[in-house]
Amino acid sequence: MKPADHANVFVLVPAAGSGSRMQAGINKQLLELQGQTVIEHTIDRLDRHPDVSGLILIAAEIDLTAMEAIAKRRAWPHLYRVITGGATRQHSVLSGLQALAAHPDCHDDSIVLVHDGARCLIDPLTISRVIAGIREHGVCGAALPVRDTIKKASDDGYVIETPDRSRLFAMQTPQGARFAPLLAAYQAMTAAGRILTDDLAVMEAAGHPVFLTAGNERNFKLTTRLDLQMAQWILNSGPEPSDALIKS
Ligand code: C5P
Repeated sequence: MKPADHANVFVLVPAAGSGSRMQAGINKQLLELQGQTVIEHTIDRLDRHPDVSGLILIAAEIDLTAMEAIAKRRAWPHLYRVITGGATRQHSVLSGLQALAAHPDCHDDSIVLVHDGARCLIDPLTISRVIAGIREHGVCGAALPVRDTIKKASDDGYVIETPDRSRLFAMQTPQGARFAPLLAAYQAMTAAGRILTDDLAVMEAAGHPVFLTAGNERNFKLTTRLDLQMAQWILNSGPEPSDALIKS
């Protein structure tokens, strides 16, 4: 039998995007849903997960004062710091990892999840599955099989390839790994000038095997106005069945 794994679990929450596709004029994570901002919904759900022992919120410079004010008002028990992000998600996550290095309980084998601030309907069971996947496989992220056939096309609109749909997954977050290899991979990719759009891609590029676990349909990323309306509808329809399974 394997020994119990007591490594701490930390969550980095990149929320430093501009949210231009929402066309709201402000960062989508500061828009309100049921009387509180999107980022509050996200952090509430992460903070109350029983395995999470620390959180870092990564904000755009322009939103830093607003995010700090929210953090002060909400006083989440596990929020360690609010920091400024960078030009890309990859730079923002790297800043988060560098800030996490100063946490007194962060060790090389600590488990680090990265969860997009814009996925405000994250459920506890998806978080637990990703943590279990990292314990078992080293690197893991939440994903859903794609529903639509995916085509690769040329710049002038002609189809180049139709990959086998049964092998395609749409990535969600959380995604994560142990602290030391994750930091090393982020530093190496950034130093090499390679900019990747998710954490598993960074770990893949650094040569690590990467495992996928089931995500949740509700855990979509708020990108457009329609997404905001769907999130509102879901929140109005009451608690999710899985919420009852893990006590806060
Ligand atoms: O741009 P995309 O939708 O992939 O962003 C995913 C997450 O990364 C969002 O929560 C966004 O706020 C965050 N992000 C960031 N820093 C950036 C760009 C995006 O923290 N420079």
